[in-house]
Amino acid sequence: MAVQILTKVLLTPVAISTCLSSHVLMKSSTRLSLIAAQAFHSQNKNYMNKFSFDPIQEQLFKENCLLVDENDKVVGYKSKRDCHTVVDNMIPLHRAFSVFLFNENNELLLQQRSRYKITYPEYFTNTCCSHPLYDNEDETKEKDNIGVKLAVQRRLNYELGIPIQEIGLDDIKCITRIHYFDKGDGVFGEHEIDYIVFIKKNITININKNEIHHTEYVGMDKMEDFLKSLHYPITPWFHFIVQSKLYDWWKNLDQVLIKPTDNTIHKF
Ligand SMILES: *[C@@H]1O[C@H](CO)[C@@H](O)[C@H](O)[C@H]1NC(C)=O
Repeated sequence: MAVQILTKVLLTPVAISTCLSSHVLMKSSTRLSLIAAQAFHSQNKNYMNKFSFDPIQEQLFKENCLLVDENDKVVGYKSKRDCHTVVDNMIPLHRAFSVFLFNENNELLLQQRSRYKITYPEYFTNTCCSHPLYDNEDETKEKDNIGVKLAVQRRLNYELGIPIQEIGLDDIKCITRIHYFDKGDGVFGEHEIDYIVFIKKNITININKNEIHHTEYVGMDKMEDFLKSLHYPITPWFHFIVQSKLYDWWKNLDQVLIKPTDNTIHKF
């Protein structure tokens, strides 16, 4: 653990400058968010001195994610910890999902991750991001993306307290997949084939404070200002989606929700 913490402190500025230089052409709002990430890492003393992690989050790090190849074919499994640990600048590619939940007024539910999270603590992000688990056999099923959908239900319930019966499997729409890599803080990062999932429904929320610090619905016309106003960074996967297709999808939300999944894996 001591070695890991030392590595974490030493690699942090490198990870961030790599991250910054690879996105020179980004829109100003998210550029600001990444600059905020740099300031955030260098000023957050709590983060730099962290010698032990939250016990609940440590426990969750033992769950097993599905390892996949570049075509999203399952090739094995590894613990959540191993799936997020940077070794020789690499992270094992695994299957994940990112939920964008809209209410009936087309406002998107955003969350700020709790300070207890081991990866990307206190970052702002989309509604819910997690993984189908190797440990839950049904979540490994691929027909009609059923495994991912079951994992979405489970995590919306766990993180946001949304009752399982409020989100039917038919409400969960898999829009596309993205493949991205992000070194995070240099110790823990992400390398995922991420199913982008949309849901449009008014739901009941009761947030799990170990996972989420704060939630907020944001309308499309308020989103740019909202991102500019943040004093915390946004997660890389949310950043990629905001930069690429989010507004196009959001403008045509009802059509996007009835259109079948595209079969492409978009690489960032
Ligand atoms: C959904 O929730 C929003 C925000 O609370 C509310 O304004 C709207 O009337 C609700 N719509 C439906 C169809 O329940």
